[in-house]
Amino acid sequence: MICLGIESTAHTFGVGIVTDKKKVLANVRDSYTTKTGGIIPSKAADHHVEVFDKVVRQALEDAKVGWDDIDFIAFSQGPGLGHTLRFGGIVSRTLALLKKKPLVGVNHCIAHLEIGRMLTKAKDPVLLYASGANTQIIAYDGGKYRIFGETLDGGIGNFLDTFARELGLGFPGGPKVMALAKKGKNYIELPYVIKGMDTSFGGILTNVKQKLKSGKYKKEDLAFSLQETVFAMLVEASERAMAHCEKDELLLGGGVACNTRLQEMCAIMCKERNAKSYVLANEFNVDNAAMIAWLGIEMYKAGIRTLLEKAIIRPYERTDDVLVKWRNN
Ligand code: ATP
Ligand code: FE2
Repeated sequence: MICLGIESTAHTFGVGIVTDKKKVLANVRDSYTTKTGGIIPSKAADHHVEVFDKVVRQALEDAKVGWDDIDFIAFSQGPGLGHTLRFGGIVSRTLALLKKKPLVGVNHCIAHLEIGRMLTKAKDPVLLYASGANTQIIAYDGGKYRIFGETLDGGIGNFLDTFARELGLGFPGGPKVMALAKKGKNYIELPYVIKGMDTSFGGILTNVKQKLKSGKYKKEDLAFSLQETVFAMLVEASERAMAHCEKDELLLGGGVACNTRLQEMCAIMCKERNAKSYVLANEFNVDNAAMIAWLGIEMYKAGIRTLLEKAIIRPYERTDDVLVKWRNN
């Protein structure tokens, strides 16, 4: 069985082709970037219009398959930006209609977790999902993926991007902040904001902006301290969720999971509590369509189909809105 997946929740337009034997035949993506600002939703959608044809063709070429080999199409139904999701939805419905393929709408956040279960030995992990727009701690419990902790304001990636923008480093800022942080040596104390398993970054951002403006601190020391502080918050919340759910696997997902310091901190925490920490290759951390195709396969095998007339986008869909029919434990 072969599924073609389409991702369009935010700045990335992607097409992935995956088999039910867990083979990723193609994982092509093209992302909207800017030199100075963040994401302007309508501009990101314009970008997807420009590249979709090229990305679809490239994926089929990489996978060395034709439309006859594709059994069905899966697409990101939500959550995400309305502008970009709507375009991805149009592409998916049109292809389903033209090529006469069944359609499966999937939840993007759950796809991050399911691709981790596919690619690693993790069976029932707690997911630390740290991306641009999302920061959530997700685990399976009672037939659903539940959110045990999350950011009370913006996502950690957007927070790092905003800090990078203050420094004129461009978008996406996460990798630039990581490089700068490696040069930092002195820890500067910043607010540490964690409430139960929830986190918040707005106050820290204000504080670090003030420190930047004051001219008293080195940029690299601030980048280093910022990473140490916010990553410690995420690791603390993840550990609490693992203890609460009695799970002994942690999976990192989302674009910020590419950060090697965050990976290292998660590994240390897991080692200390005799648990396992799993990290994916970067192409599966960032938004990608292979994960959409894979979750599509799991859902399709469980008998789930999305009728064309019901294939509307769900920009605000929550992880725990989805009934998980494809897991039996
Ligand atoms: P989602 O729709 O899941 O919220 P997204 O649109 O934010 O995802 P992702 O590709 O998951 O997209 O994540 C992008 C974020 O990851 C950006 O904020 C970027 O700065 C951040 N990022 C990428 N690499 C690194 C890194 N090495 N360190 C920290 N952050 C990183
Ligand atoms: Fe994502």
